[in-house]
Amino acid sequence: MNRQTLSVFLLALGFLVCEGGNPCCSQPCENRGVCTALGSDYECDCTRTGYYGQNCTTPELLTLIKVYLKPSPNTVHYLLTHFKGFWNIINSISFLRDAIMKYVLTSRSNMIDSPSTYNSDYDYKNWEAYSNISYYTRALPPLPEDCPTPMGVVGKKELPDAKVLAEKLLMRREFITDPQGTSLMFGFFAQHFTHQFFKSDMKKGPAFTLATGHGVDLSHVYGNDLQKQHKLRLFKDGKLKHQVLNGEVYPPTVKETGVHMIYPPHIPESQRFAVGHEAFGLVPGLMMYAVIWLREHNRVCDVLKEVHPDWDDERLFQTTRLILIGETIRIVIEDYVQHLSGYNFKLKFDPELLFKEQFQYQNRIASEFNTLYHWHPLMPDTFRVGETHYNYKQFIFNNSVVIEHGINKMVESFTNQISGRVAGGRNVPVPILYVTVETIEHNRKLRYQSLNAYRKRFNMKPYSSFEDLTGETEMAALLEEMYGHVDAVEFYPGLLVEKPRPNSIFGETMVEVGAPFSLKGLMGNPICSPEYWKPSTFGGKVGFEIVNTASLQNLVCNNVRGPCPVASFQVQNIKETEPVIINSSTSQSQGSDINPTVILKETSTEL
Ligand code: HEM
Ligand SMILES: *[C@@H]1O[C@H](CO)[C@@H](O)[C@H](O)[C@H]1NC(C)=O
Ligand SMILES: *[C@@H]1O[C@H](CO)[C@@H](O)[C@H](O)[C@H]1NC(C)=O
Ligand SMILES: *[C@@H]1O[C@H](CO)[C@@H](O)[C@H](O)[C@H]1NC(C)=O
Ligand SMILES: *[C@@H]1O[C@H](CO)[C@@H](O)[C@H](O)[C@H]1NC(C)=O
Repeated sequence: MNRQTLSVFLLALGFLVCEGGNPCCSQPCENRGVCTALGSDYECDCTRTGYYGQNCTTPELLTLIKVYLKPSPNTVHYLLTHFKGFWNIINSISFLRDAIMKYVLTSRSNMIDSPSTYNSDYDYKNWEAYSNISYYTRALPPLPEDCPTPMGVVGKKELPDAKVLAEKLLMRREFITDPQGTSLMFGFFAQHFTHQFFKSDMKKGPAFTLATGHGVDLSHVYGNDLQKQHKLRLFKDGKLKHQVLNGEVYPPTVKETGVHMIYPPHIPESQRFAVGHEAFGLVPGLMMYAVIWLREHNRVCDVLKEVHPDWDDERLFQTTRLILIGETIRIVIEDYVQHLSGYNFKLKFDPELLFKEQFQYQNRIASEFNTLYHWHPLMPDTFRVGETHYNYKQFIFNNSVVIEHGINKMVESFTNQISGRVAGGRNVPVPILYVTVETIEHNRKLRYQSLNAYRKRFNMKPYSSFEDLTGETEMAALLEEMYGHVDAVEFYPGLLVEKPRPNSIFGETMVEVGAPFSLKGLMGNPICSPEYWKPSTFGGKVGFEIVNTASLQNLVCNNVRGPCPVASFQVQNIKETEPVIINSSTSQSQGSDINPTVILKETSTEL
């Protein structure tokens, strides 16, 4: 064969292979078997899946027994959210509570690959994908590039236009309140807390993150790098720079610190607060938490200095940071996840529960975790602080809300305002719908697998039909028109239209995929490991006690002036506080000659 015929031959062969597409496009390997293409054929690696056979579908005997005995996620959820009397007994018997908490932590964490495996540029294991921490990791590898359809082999040749999809299925018509009674105090905590590790580096693309701590490092308080941290520090008694306004402590200004923050040009210098995360000027709810944590840092510094008068600034600062990390993790597990779960079982933050288990004290933030955490439906149509109602245009980038009302009033107001329901479709506020559209577009760039693929990955049965997914017919019909096949429904839109569990904020998939990432990220923190988790790490008994008694309520009470308001992730009296159901399309059209979307967009390039 001469060179020319050889190349023609190779070209034809290549064409044949391409024509059939990559055989892994059909995702033939079940039960987390690994697919490797071999020309037009494929091979499934079923090692340690508990299954064997060509597609890893035949269970081993032990697997058969386990699967038979294992209750479904919905059953477990039902048990945990009912039978209050039974759980009250369990909660008071410490060895039983510990045993169940240990089970919750290990069963969830076991779903996460640790050390991490794939990223958005590599669908096979390799050193670059493992070691380059500028990438978010991936729970499921990206789909192969050369597939017959965008979602593999099923569904239409083209995905629905993201904007049309968002407008038809995700955009709020009227405000749907959360039946779990989630407060705005929760919504802003969610946004504030998660932005320390969800920090996409859009200059490089959605596959990349600036938050290379990959977890709860409080970089949103202290800055992402040493340079910023130093600009924020007072270098006296371990404290952070601050200013006093109306007799209370607030963050210093951008001018004073030279810290880079994102503010639109019209914001006066006096209102440009400088905090650890450059985007926290965006929403007063974020700034409220930034102020609270700033005060907490400086308060804990004082406590430590009392015990250790000989400690220098550096040691006071560093030890306080560890204490605040510990406080954060306790509040997130015992207040935040407790509320979100709706469990009658009382969750417990106790790192010792894992000391005898196989558990890796490391974490890598997954791209899918970031995606599923886009809980924009939580946000209401207007924000109430004291007697004032702010629409988006008035609220966004407006730190004078914080200065005028003070933290006390904001906490009180946000604890009493209800958030929106996340699942169930059509509840993303119009002014931030564009964020949803961009999220979907980014996910496509990252070649996310389908919602059903993620359900399988996290031990759930794939949805069998569109009605099975949404639990109704109208949105199901629209989805069918857009996607053609339920196996082609995308991850994020699927999560938002999924039928919520009864009286719940989320559907099954959000919880079953989100909880493993969340608990792994919290417990995988170095402070939870045996050598760290002891009083001396936190400056002794006094510091350890701060970590062990932290709660949202204590955090607030220790840092506001005057009688402290109730601070809760749950609205106190749903009946009384439930806002009038506002017709979003009418309430937002009035008096906004400038489109808030545009204001946001111009300044959001670095978010
Ligand atoms: C008024 C309230 C809010 C506004 C104006 C807002 C706005 C934005 C904007 C402009 C982005 C960047 C979008 C992009 O780059 O494509 C974003 C991203 C994001 N938002 Fe929100 N958001 C709000 C509330 C929330 C809440 C309550 C959550 C709940 C956790 C949330 C979670 C996220 C997440 C996880 C991201 C991705 C961050 C990243 O990848 O860097 N947002 N939001
Ligand atoms: C494995 O999956 C492929 C493609 O989905 C199918 O054609 C084949 O029959 C399956 N093999 C077995 C043993 O089930
Ligand atoms: C990580 O990967 C990106 C993209 O290939 C590259 O630009 C960056 O330099 C890598 N980072 C490191 C630390 O190697
Ligand atoms: C910002 O909030 C202040 C304080 O409530 C208010 O007076 C002002 O009108 C708001 N700014 C805008 C642009 O709406
Ligand atoms: C909301 O207002 C729009 C425009 O005025 C109207 O077409 C729609 O029917 C209203 N929806 C509800 C639920 O009242």
